[in-house]
Amino acid sequence: MDDVVLDAVEKRFGGVSVVNGINLAIRKGEFFSLLGPSGCGKTTTLRMIAGLEGPSSGTVSIRGERMNGVPINKRPTNLVFQKLALFPHLSVWDNVAFGLKLKKVPEAELRARVGEMLDLVRLSGFEKRSVTSLSGGQQQRVAIARAIVNKPAVLLLDEPLGALDLKLQTHLQEELRRIQRELGMTFVYVTHNQTEAMAMSDRVGVMNAGNLEQIGTPADLYLRPRTEFVAGFVGQTNLISGRIVAIDEQHMTIDALGLSFVARRRDDVTVGQAITFSLRPEQVRISAAGTAGAQMPLLDATFFGATATYRLQAPGGVLTAQAHGELQTMTAGAVVSASWLPEAIVILKAGT
Ligand SMILES: Nc1ncnc2c1ncn2[C@@H]1O[C@H](COP(=O)(O)OP(=O)(O)O)[C@@H](O)[C@H]1O
Ligand SMILES: [Mg+2]
Repeated sequence: MDDVVLDAVEKRFGGVSVVNGINLAIRKGEFFSLLGPSGCGKTTTLRMIAGLEGPSSGTVSIRGERMNGVPINKRPTNLVFQKLALFPHLSVWDNVAFGLKLKKVPEAELRARVGEMLDLVRLSGFEKRSVTSLSGGQQQRVAIARAIVNKPAVLLLDEPLGALDLKLQTHLQEELRRIQRELGMTFVYVTHNQTEAMAMSDRVGVMNAGNLEQIGTPADLYLRPRTEFVAGFVGQTNLISGRIVAIDEQHMTIDALGLSFVARRRDDVTVGQAITFSLRPEQVRISAAGTAGAQMPLLDATFFGATATYRLQAPGGVLTAQAHGELQTMTAGAVVSASWLPEAIVILKAGT
C-alpha cells in the first residue's frame, strides 16, 4: 500500500519551474529519502507533501486521499527541520506534551504517550530539564519525540542532522532508523548527503534540477545507476564515453580512453553508436605488469588506510582504481596491469 503519492507534481516560482512534474509512490512503513544536491527541489517537494506549499499542477495524495488544498494541520503529517523549533522556555516534558495538551488529550493518556516517546528517543530522566541545557543531539531527539507523539501517518524530515558534527550524525542516523522501525511509521527524509541516504533508507529517490532521475534501493542505485548524474552522485565512479565497435552473442566491445572495454551485450544499441558508461573504481583490479589486462603507467597513489586510490594513465585519459590498502604500495611511474569484468561496465543514459 502506498502512503504518499505524487502524481505529475510541478512547482513554479515566478514562472520558473523548480519541481518538474515528478511521479513518486512512497510505501507504508517505508524509510524513503529524497537525495540530491542543494537547490534541486527537495525541500520544495517535502513542503508540498506537508502542505506548506501548494503544487502549481499535479496532485499530492496521502493514504489515498487527495491533499491539494488541505491545510497543514489537517494533514496526517508532521515535520522535523534542521533548524530546531523547540520552545526554549519549556522543559523537555512540556515540549513533547505540547501538542497533546492543545488537543486536550486526557491526562493519563498524555502521561503514557509522552513517557513512551521519551523512552523511544532515550531521553527518560531528562523530563524536567530545560531544552536549552541540552546538547544539539539531545535537542534534536526532543524535536523528534515531539513530532511523533501525535502519531502522524507520515513523518517528514528535512536535513534534521545537518547542524550536528559527523560522529553525532552517524549515531543519530542509526537511532532514527531504529525509531522508524519500532514505530513502523513512514519516514520521508530529505538530504544532500549520499552516505546518509544510503545508510538509512529502504529506497532513495535521486533528484537533479527539479527532476526525479531514479528511484531504487541503495544497492540498486549504486550497482545499476541509469543516468550519468546518478552514477556520479551516488558514490565515486569513472564516467567514460566511447563508441561501440562490435557486438556478438553475449558481449559488446566499446572503444574508449584508447582502450577496449568488453561489456554485456544490450539489445538497444548498435555498432558505431556513441555511449557513456560507469566503471566503479573498486571494480578495476590492478596487478603486476605483464599479467592479463591493460598495461598502463600509474600516475599517483593515495593511501586512505583501509583503501587506496590509484590513478592510471590510459592512452586517452585517466582511469581511477580503488583497492584494499594492504596491497603493497606501488610507486608513480610504474607500469601495472588493469582489468575488469564485463558486468562492471554499466551503460548509462545521458543526464536530463
Ligand atoms: N519561495 C520561493 N520563491 C522562489 N524560489 C524558491 C522558493 N523556494 C525555493 N525556491 C527555489 O527553488 C529551488 C529549489 O529549492 P529547494 O527546494 O529549497 O532545494 P533543496 O532543498 O534541494 O536545496 C531553488 O532554486 C530555490 O532558490
Ligand atoms: Mg533544502
